Amino acid sequence: MVKMILDVDTGIDDALAIAYAVSLPAVELLGVTTTYGMAPVDYSYRNSRKVLEALGAAHIPVYRGSEKPLKRSREYSGKIHGNDGLGETLGPVEAPAASSEHAVDYLICQIRKHQKELTIVATAPLTNLAAAITKAPEIVGMVGKVVIMGGAVMTPGNVTKFAEANIIIDPEAAGLVLESGLPITLVGLDVTRKTLLTQADVAKWKQKGTPASAFFARFTEFYLDAYSKLHPYLKGCALHDPLAVGVAVYPDLVQTVPMNVKVDLEDNALGRTTEDLYRAAEPTTLVCVQVDADRFMKSFFAHVI
Ligand code: BDR
Ligand code: CA
Repeated sequence: MVKMILDVDTGIDDALAIAYAVSLPAVELLGVTTTYGMAPVDYSYRNSRKVLEALGAAHIPVYRGSEKPLKRSREYSGKIHGNDGLGETLGPVEAPAASSEHAVDYLICQIRKHQKELTIVATAPLTNLAAAITKAPEIVGMVGKVVIMGGAVMTPGNVTKFAEANIIIDPEAAGLVLESGLPITLVGLDVTRKTLLTQADVAKWKQKGTPASAFFARFTEFYLDAYSKLHPYLKGCALHDPLAVGVAVYPDLVQTVPMNVKVDLEDNALGRTTEDLYRAAEPTTLVCVQVDADRFMKSFFAHVI
């Protein structure tokens, strides 16, 4: 059994990652921590709760986390995920979110409690994790595994020609996490771009006709539409965040290379993730370089939605 915390900025593919984690029998989803990213944190928080409710998993706790990058500001564009983060299915957040505990404190507390048994899957800017290891540096050596959807080591980025979104939104946080010594598996665009969900797949959800499948089909259609405008040559939309959940549970879905990864902060290559050949330490990051996309897609559809 994989004890998991999902750190998300829900987000359409984050919602699909939550659904996959909730339905995989091998996962015990302890909680969901949220951050800003594709939309402000109040949206990620509200959206995560609504997704869990739709899945009949409202008992899983959700925590509100970071509101902005460590050193930068964030402006939102609803182009890929919608202004509400979920393809305009939920609309504006009515009231600011109230969460019992801050996401960063929850992460620290759960890492101390479960130690090597805990897997954290982060599918958002890495601000929450960076804040957690800054506040309690000893947790770096305690946590079992951190699987991060982020970066593009061998292929182009999706925000600039170098940088992937989760890294470039808070590059200082990403650098801190990737240089911390945490046991990381980096699931970047190099592999996630190979996992494509198609219009025909979403049509099957629609046919199911349950409230949850209709909700999921509606927001995923928004994402498919955005993808088809941005990448007319692709036959679908990438399941970036669900693949990170898949890799956390089935590490043999991917081939990895151990690497010290650094995040560029220079203006002309901001957010680029490259191998740091000059770091003396043994690598603690495994970079995913190949994926068995067919096997992953089969598992995803067997469980979602
Ligand atoms: C990442 O950015 C967001 O758009 C997705 O949810 C994913 O986490 C892909 O670059
Ligand atoms: Ca995300």
